[in-house]
Amino acid sequence: MNIAIITGSHGLIGSESVAFFADKMDRIVGIDNDKRAYFFGPEASTRWNKEILTEKYQNYVPYDIDIRDYNGLEKLFKEYGSDIKLVVHTAAQPSHDWAAREPITDFTINANGTLNLLELTRLYCISAKFIFTSTNKVYGDTPNFLPLMELEKRWEIESTHPFYKDGIDETMTIDHSKHSIFGASKVAADVMVQEYGQYFAMNTAVFRGGCLTGPQHSGAKLHGFLSYLMKCAITKEHYTIFGYKGKQVRDNIHAWDLVNMFWHFYQAPQPGGQVYNAGGGRFSNCSMIEAIELCEKITGNPFNYSYTEDNRSGDHIWYISDITKFRSHYPAWNYQYSLEDTLEQIFENLKSRV
Ligand SMILES: NC(=O)c1ccc[n+]([C@@H]2O[C@H](COP(=O)([O-])OP(=O)(O)OC[C@H]3O[C@@H](n4cnc5c(N)ncnc54)[C@H](O)[C@@H]3O)[C@@H](O)[C@H]2O)c1
Repeated sequence: MNIAIITGSHGLIGSESVAFFADKMDRIVGIDNDKRAYFFGPEASTRWNKEILTEKYQNYVPYDIDIRDYNGLEKLFKEYGSDIKLVVHTAAQPSHDWAAREPITDFTINANGTLNLLELTRLYCISAKFIFTSTNKVYGDTPNFLPLMELEKRWEIESTHPFYKDGIDETMTIDHSKHSIFGASKVAADVMVQEYGQYFAMNTAVFRGGCLTGPQHSGAKLHGFLSYLMKCAITKEHYTIFGYKGKQVRDNIHAWDLVNMFWHFYQAPQPGGQVYNAGGGRFSNCSMIEAIELCEKITGNPFNYSYTEDNRSGDHIWYISDITKFRSHYPAWNYQYSLEDTLEQIFENLKSRV
């Protein structure tokens, strides 16, 4: 029997993983305790996704377990044992800003929760592929010290810099920078996932995401950039842009494209606890101003926003992921969804929900 364990299975990446792997595995075991509603309020709950997934996929079995609960998790790993062929770990406290409110909650979920899952994988299904969704925040604010220039609607890196062509690659240091409390807890988890690959020779991989996006995101003020932006565009709710003249650039990858990366790794895992930058890259990126213009175009509504000079602490001014390393390991992979496609999908999904 082939079983996949997916943590955070009702969130953006988790639910996309459930849908993606449902016909590739005999059973999908989901772990999600709707902690997102605790972080960001009831409007960010992912419970709605649980109902859709259980109805749609007969082989999907959800468990309401907190990833900090080692004993609760162990029961599952004991029950399914070596039938577990894949662990996709996406459950997290995902917000840069929220983490500072409760550093202990943030760290125990992001770091200790990841360690629980790694250790249980080692003990009960050591050959399983273990995929971890890390973040570009592990690089802290180092990208802000790149030579940037101001254009009409966005910041851009100087064209003579080696990162100009494809973006920031995995050689960027993770040391000596302001990560945010969230970035630091993700660094701890990221390094542990690498270490289980190196030290225990397990099939682990770290995917350092840029902005991850898609119609299943339960967007909230503090997390889910494009989803929350589109929500405001539809409802005309007020939005605040924090700093950098609204020209800060993020790359955006559709959840399906990211999970398709997981699938390529699953089929032919590279050894050694690999790290991959995983984002929209040069293919899909936008500044705040550009994203707002796209939302206005799609909804036909003028966007209701104001601007404040104070940027969010440690926030990136310009971040574009270089995915060349992943492409070199998995040349058959490619993007399926452009930024415009993704925003259209988010709009269609949100129209009926907000
Ligand atoms: N969305 C982004 O832009 C982005 C960017 C970079 C990295 N990431 C990372 O990707 C992963 C997935 O992000 P997402 O956008 O799908 O997040 P999400 O919030 O949509 O999904 C995470 C899910 O995990 C669940 N969860 C949280 N804490 C839990 C716990 N203690 N026990 C069990 N379940 C718990 C939540 O209820 C939620 O349903 C996270 O690790 C995040 O840090 C996300």
